[in-house]
Amino acid sequence: MTPESHSLTGADPSLAPPPGCPAHGRGPGGLHRLYGPEAEDLGSVYEQLREEHGPVAPVLLHDDVPMWVVLGHTENLHMVRTPSQFCRDSRIWTPLQEGMVKPDHPLMPHIAWQPIASHAEGDEHLRLRGAVTGAMSTIDHRGVRRHINRHTQRLVNRFCEEGTADLVSEFAEHLPMAVMCEILGMPDEYSDRLVLAARDALKGTETAIASHGYVMDALSRLTARRRARPEEDFTSHLITHPARLTDDEVREHLRLVLFAAYEATVNLLSNALRMVITDPRFRAQLSGGQMTVPEAVEQSLWDEPPFSSVFAYFAKQDTELGGQRIRKGDGLLLGIAPGNIDPRVRPDLAANMQGNRSHLAFGGGPHECPGQDIGRAIADTGVDALLMRLPDVELDCDEEELNWAESISSRHLVELPVRFAPKPQQDVMAKPGHAAVPQQRSTWQVGTHPDPAPVTAPEPQPAPAPPQAPTVQTPQPARPMGAWRRFVRWWRGY
Ligand code: HEM
Repeated sequence: MTPESHSLTGADPSLAPPPGCPAHGRGPGGLHRLYGPEAEDLGSVYEQLREEHGPVAPVLLHDDVPMWVVLGHTENLHMVRTPSQFCRDSRIWTPLQEGMVKPDHPLMPHIAWQPIASHAEGDEHLRLRGAVTGAMSTIDHRGVRRHINRHTQRLVNRFCEEGTADLVSEFAEHLPMAVMCEILGMPDEYSDRLVLAARDALKGTETAIASHGYVMDALSRLTARRRARPEEDFTSHLITHPARLTDDEVREHLRLVLFAAYEATVNLLSNALRMVITDPRFRAQLSGGQMTVPEAVEQSLWDEPPFSSVFAYFAKQDTELGGQRIRKGDGLLLGIAPGNIDPRVRPDLAANMQGNRSHLAFGGGPHECPGQDIGRAIADTGVDALLMRLPDVELDCDEEELNWAESISSRHLVELPVRFAPKPQQDVMAKPGHAAVPQQRSTWQVGTHPDPAPVTAPEPQPAPAPPQAPTVQTPQPARPMGAWRRFVRWWRGY
């Protein structure tokens, strides 16, 4: 182990910067730390690094472990698209091999290699990812939109009569879990407890291990049930895929999909809601019909990507990236947030990116997120359905008072307090809307008084149904649907 091997740039890390040097307050070798008090505003740190080093910069992770952060849009894309030079197998990472990374390193959950698609390469990656994408290809997207609408109705019913809500903890943190439980084939496992457990496991609190165990128990039960009797859901298709995954592999990939989907989609939904609620451009454009909700979601994928960076890619050989000499075994952070605002691709950050999907929010290359359509569908349909129920929703605090939690991997809203005029509950099976739908007249009533008095004696009534949540939409008599209404229903999934 040579001193040089601890330093990416070849500088002697034991040398402290001279007094008065702007590098004071930084780590060994004058390098910026991506943790601690110097990294409270990572966005500014990345811009300073871009100015000092260009599109690829040397930085320090916790315990001053050396790392590169890739800031350039082109350089990030080159890295993820060149599997001959860069891979996701942390076992080749020099600081790990040399024992610099302690077992209790805070990033260990991201660092530790696991036999899952995200860390695999070549044929093994094709086998594992093939099973995941094969199972995803069987998902009925109209059915997914129906689940999103139904769960939005249910969640909004919980707070609509109050006139206030926190859309992060009462909506965004629940909807993706409810929808993913439907997709995986465990709708009965969905509960507030499961949401709390997933949130806790991701936050890495003292109870994270127990919470993680709670989620894994649910996934193990699901695996055993579907192995014994496959059904028509993601898990069954994962199990019966020709890649012949073992039970452990099935469970690990269910975990990968559930956590990747949950964390990213909660962030995307919160960010997109904040944007449509607070940004006057979107509000005006949404109501003026120029900017659709999917376009607002896409803009948020540029400006506030759900994962701000991904840990990590590793150099398989000596190479060059963004003018830096990268050595075999070096680690590189996929810098999604800084790459998305690279001035070479976005000279004007205020310009909207309508129609341009070349952001880095879903990564790229062989590991590019295979669940992006589902993530987008949850955000698009969820925001749309919420706005249908609460069209007058507005922020219940000053925008500057909103709090964000930031780590190397994500920057997300802590809460999104809103107010609106209290609304009645709605039938969870009905299409979300904000006004009571007027009673339709059946064909025989056409041209007659809308509320004709009964002309015959009433039929004997069946026993009253058990009490249900109050609704404003009474069941409507069926009306033959025109081609356009049928298309819109098909398109929106309800
Ligand atoms: C909406 C928000 C989402 C975002 C922003 C997002 C982002 C990402 C990113 C950045 C990666 C790593 C790409 C790389 O290493 O280059 C990834 C991988 C992955 N994502 Fe997503 N994701 C989202 C939703 C989902 C959903 C809904 C699912 C599943 C239904 C999912 C499943 C996965 C899987 C399985 C991988 C690993 C793929 C591989 O390594 O081959 N993601 N995602």
